[in-house]
Amino acid sequence: MHVLIVYFSRSGNTEKMAREVAQGVIAEGLEAKLKTVAEASVDDLALADGIILGSPTYYGSMAAEMKSFIDKSVKYHRKLAGKAGGAFTTSGLTGGGNETTLLSMITALLIHGMAVQGTSTSDHYGPVAVGAPDDKALAGCRELGSRVAKLAKALAAAR
Ligand SMILES: Cc1cc2nc3c(=O)[nH]c(=O)nc-3n(C[C@H](O)[C@H](O)[C@H](O)COP(=O)(O)O)c2cc1C
Repeated sequence: MHVLIVYFSRSGNTEKMAREVAQGVIAEGLEAKLKTVAEASVDDLALADGIILGSPTYYGSMAAEMKSFIDKSVKYHRKLAGKAGGAFTTSGLTGGGNETTLLSMITALLIHGMAVQGTSTSDHYGPVAVGAPDDKALAGCRELGSRVAKLAKALAAAR
């Protein structure tokens, strides 16, 4: 089983988060496939047990590169239902639209019929960093990776 982490990052902040998300997946005993949107193909989506998307906050939403990747995922419409999913982002400002960015990515995962689990104990919709991720944000990233991996295993066991 594996979790695919697809991210876009221009200046490295989102990339640092992506690497920590991967550590959380690995800690749960699953393989983590870490790819930039440029490296990833939508064909990777069909093979993954869990899918986590990461993008910087651009004007309160995901970067165009990530949106373009999601739009191409229509190739697998109705084929990704029941997979575990999640999202993470980084922004310039605390109130700079990071939650709307997370929700923009989560919305696409939900439309695919995927299972997205929030959390009551840390950033509710997924980890957020303001600028370069600090220790708290990195811990949130590991937690996200672990949560999605656990959910993927539970969903696989229930099938
Ligand atoms: C085109 C563009 C739009 C941005 N829009 C926002 C925004 O709406 N709100 C915000 O807080 N930061 C915004 N930022 C800042 C980035 O979200 C922030 O620098 C982020 O950490 C960059 O991530 P990266 O290092 O992974 O590329 C924007 C940056 C760019 C280049």
